[in-house]
Amino acid sequence: MRTSVLIVNGPNLNLLGTRQPEVYGRETLADIERLCHDHAATLGVAADFRQSNTEGDLVTWIQEARGRHHGIIINAAAYTHTSVAILDALLAVELPVVEVHLSNIHRREAFRQHSYVSQAAHGMICGFGSHGYVLALDALHRLIAARLRTNDKEKR
Ligand code: DQA
Repeated sequence: MRTSVLIVNGPNLNLLGTRQPEVYGRETLADIERLCHDHAATLGVAADFRQSNTEGDLVTWIQEARGRHHGIIINAAAYTHTSVAILDALLAVELPVVEVHLSNIHRREAFRQHSYVSQAAHGMICGFGSHGYVLALDALHRLIAARLRTNDKEKR
């Protein structure tokens, strides 16, 4: 199976481009999707890029990733700071997870500095705008390759 990653985006990220551009930049979500597909192609990876404003959609997509994808990149947006359901789904699928935020959440309001997602993530990239997704793809690609090598060794 070709290496495949799920890229999940949470609420209000559909408004990128016009939403608080001083915080999130001027690129639209479609621009970021293109960036992800282009970079994934250079890595030889398939990328399934999704966005929803609904917590349940994110939970369902994460659940469905098991057996379909090798890893998950997630910008859960505001649900990062509130959603035990998303954390539980990420823990349940047992896939490598990289957390992304466009803004540096540690330079912002105190309530943004706690992330439920981080408890399931291998690592977090924040503060680099859309380039964070490129960095996350590189990081996840390495994690997946290391996992596949370990699985191969265990089979031998
Ligand atoms: C965000 C940061 C969150 O705190 C916020 O609720 C978002 C976007 C980011 O990408 O910087 O919607 O996840």
